[in-house]
Amino acid sequence: MSFIFITLGTCLIVSDTLVPRVARRLSLTKHPNCSTLSGGQAIELLARSGDRRKFPFRTPMGRIYDCCFSFAGLRSQITMSIMKKEAEEGIEQGTLLSCVNDIAAATQHTVAVHLAKRTHRAILFCKENGLLSSEDPILVMSGGVASNQYIRKTLTVLTEKTGLRLLCPPPRFCTDNGVMIAWNGVERLREGKGILSPNEDVCYEPKAPLGVDISAKVRTAGIRLPSGRMKISF
Ligand SMILES: *[C@@H]1O[C@H](CO)[C@@H](O)[C@H](O)[C@H]1NC(C)=O
Repeated sequence: MSFIFITLGTCLIVSDTLVPRVARRLSLTKHPNCSTLSGGQAIELLARSGDRRKFPFRTPMGRIYDCCFSFAGLRSQITMSIMKKEAEEGIEQGTLLSCVNDIAAATQHTVAVHLAKRTHRAILFCKENGLLSSEDPILVMSGGVASNQYIRKTLTVLTEKTGLRLLCPPPRFCTDNGVMIAWNGVERLREGKGILSPNEDVCYEPKAPLGVDISAKVRTAGIRLPSGRMKISF
């Protein structure tokens, strides 16, 4: 069996970094229930008891009809809201805000919706262009984001709606990017694949594109998503 990799969209800023950065900005390690958790785990835990409607962040890139992700605009929206709350509560950066649960819930929700919308467009593009397997088409989500149960649930709603099946590695394998890259090295070493001796000339490339990049074609297609909300409930 052979695989063809096609890139429909890329991430302009790696998604895994937004949530840990928000957690750091909120000083969540000072929260009694989060001191031993990673940033991502802390946001997921606090979000469960937060009200996301208190911070109605805009989903990024709403008017760009492609499959690229960007979290830069969302990050500045969140930072602005945090600064505003700090001013209201009269506290310095580095002190816990009273509304961290609500900010966590709103952040997690907006990230989930952004991922779902861009992926929804990718699924529609693939269907229109015959790029999906006709039997049992699968959406795979991996990496740090795939350890978040809210995001998994959101993408399950999407795959059920579009007739796909969502596959995610077990959360313990959805970890830090650096660890996953290092593990790829371990696997390669074991298989003896792509191993170079120290005195061989190596040509480094700043980017490692995956397969054929057709993101410009996807943008030109400009697929609009059907209106209507997706209901995410637990
Ligand atoms: C920590 O968790 C406990 C148990 O879920 C909860 O009752 C408590 O309110 C939490 N503490 C804070 C500061 O949110």
